[in-house]
Amino acid sequence: MQNSTRKPIVAGNWKMNGNKPLIQLLEDSLATADLAHLEVVICPPFPYLGMFGGLNALGAQNMSQFDGGAHTGEIAASMLKECGCQYVILGHSERRAGHAETNDVVASKVKKALEADLTPILCVGETEEIRDSGNLFAFLAEQIDAVVQEIGVNEFSKLVLAYEPIWAIGTGKTASPAQAQEVHHFLREHLAKKNSDIAEKIRILYGGSVKGSNAKELFSQQDVDGGLIGGASLDPEDFLSICLAAKQ
Ligand code: PGA
Repeated sequence: MQNSTRKPIVAGNWKMNGNKPLIQLLEDSLATADLAHLEVVICPPFPYLGMFGGLNALGAQNMSQFDGGAHTGEIAASMLKECGCQYVILGHSERRAGHAETNDVVASKVKKALEADLTPILCVGETEEIRDSGNLFAFLAEQIDAVVQEIGVNEFSKLVLAYEPIWAIGTGKTASPAQAQEVHHFLREHLAKKNSDIAEKIRILYGGSVKGSNAKELFSQQDVDGGLIGGASLDPEDFLSICLAAKQ
């Protein structure tokens, strides 16, 4: 994270965890530090979105690819916007694997999010099998290119990317700083072939077992612009130390 034009982001993905008391505990913890040099984004489950005090940016964990209508249980981008969201996580591997979200579905969601003036945090990442098979970069390129095809590369100026190797999510097995940097650099170079200015400016977060104890080393890599934090975002103290590690 040595590029001063890219403001770091630390986003906490609560997944289907947390409760009302955690909102206050987290806000109190974050309020104890000066975090003006980064963007802190909290992505709680939908019902809690309206319960935060406005100190930090809010993100949703998912949204519908449709504008509205007969889609029981779904939530539209415009509704998230109305509820004060600025960000939305899209294409998380748990959505791709557990809810049949193909690259095309993810791409349509990204398009809808942008139309509603939300910033998508677009997640990409490989399984251990894909990494071992040697197809890592082709696989990641395909995930990115599906979105490029839908919205065009210029719209990537409004996106945040998150590299989340599936083998590192919730496993305690973090990618090494060198492994993270290698992929982040690849993603930036891949976009640079289409638009070098956007590639230079886009923020690429690392996600997968980030903790207070390993955040600094990961975030010090040149192409790592912060993190998408799952488990550790539920621990107010650890989340704060991750935020502090992301200061420029
Ligand atoms: P983890 O999750 O930090 O618990 O590994 C990251 C994520 O899935 O966003």
